[in-house]
Amino acid sequence: MDHASPIQCRLQRYPTRLDGADVFAFSRDPLSRVGPGEVRIRMSHISVDPGMRGWMTPKRSYMPPVKLGEVMRAFGVGEVVESQADGVSPGDWMTGFTGVQTEAVLRAQGLRKIDTRWGAPRDYLSGLGMTGYTAYFGLLNVGAPGASETVVISAAAGAVGSIATQIARIKGCHVIGIAGGPHKQDFVLNQLKAHTALDYKAAPIAEQLRAAAPNGIDVYFDNVGGETLDAALGLIKRHGRIVLCGGISQYGDMDGVRGPSNYLQLVAQSARMQGFTMRDYLDRIPEAFAALVQWRASGEIIFREHIVKGIERFPEAFAMLFSGGNEGKLLIEI
Ligand SMILES: NC(=O)c1ccc[n+]([C@@H]2O[C@H](COP(=O)([O-])OP(=O)(O)OC[C@H]3O[C@@H](n4cnc5c(N)ncnc54)[C@H](OP(=O)(O)O)[C@@H]3O)[C@@H](O)[C@H]2O)c1
Repeated sequence: MDHASPIQCRLQRYPTRLDGADVFAFSRDPLSRVGPGEVRIRMSHISVDPGMRGWMTPKRSYMPPVKLGEVMRAFGVGEVVESQADGVSPGDWMTGFTGVQTEAVLRAQGLRKIDTRWGAPRDYLSGLGMTGYTAYFGLLNVGAPGASETVVISAAAGAVGSIATQIARIKGCHVIGIAGGPHKQDFVLNQLKAHTALDYKAAPIAEQLRAAAPNGIDVYFDNVGGETLDAALGLIKRHGRIVLCGGISQYGDMDGVRGPSNYLQLVAQSARMQGFTMRDYLDRIPEAFAALVQWRASGEIIFREHIVKGIERFPEAFAMLFSGGNEGKLLIEI
């Protein structure tokens, strides 16, 4: 094996639950020559996302599944080292679906050039990328909270949740963040500046929420589903909104996903529950980008990143999402 060759992480089998290191396999295949319209990119960071679980099942989703043997699909960011594409030169930085690999030859059209004056390249995978946009549009467009309304956010110490928590606070909402464990609870309260932080592992979440939101919930930004979604439904106010961003508590068994049993509260309270993905807002990315850049410059928002070094640790990092091992946006540094 040529140790100067790039490393690829390939999907070897579809996981049934959240099992097994043998889901992924590493290869060291040499790169093809850079052809017209293509660029060779040396990756600096790879994004590790719960959504990858959905790409590893043949079930219908918003994207086709990754085929067995293919390089695992992932957002990444890297520096162009060779280019045969118009308007792209060596030294430029690009982001997009780069895959879990150290270096790759990719079509430039499927990638986006980034401007490193606004942030470090890795920021374009966290607060200035898909993570930040998901929090921005999910909260402000789907949830549409008014100032002083009560907003509850689950997985609040995670990538999307930590940004959504801070945006809700910026918008003058009464913010309740939910996370697992005292360390994350402290982070949500003292660094993200939520008004209340609940540790769902410490006591039943329904009881804790009832005490924290005695008058009910106007907007629930759901990242986890399951018991927490049911608890929030039980407290939803009249004309309240539930934002379905994700349901990570259900990703372990994609064939046995459990829906909310409390959904009739939507009828009783004339409330709304709506899913979304970032794809719904592609034409409005500049608006979210400008807002996130400005909030960070003024110190109103922080982008917490959790960095794991080395592509060979991708399987371990992916598992961290489900054990709660990450605080903030989980990234692999190449
Ligand atoms: N709709 C979209 O366009 C879109 C885009 C990106 C992400 N998402 C979704 O948003 C959610 C968060 O994604 P992210 O990238 O920001 O990940 P993340 O929150 O940084 O990481 C996942 C976190 O989920 C929590 N978690 C794991 N298992 C759980 C369980 N059984 N019950 C409760 N909490 C659990 C853990 O935090 P604790 O330690 O607090 O348990 C973990 O740190 C996911 O559901 C994801 O699928 C949706």
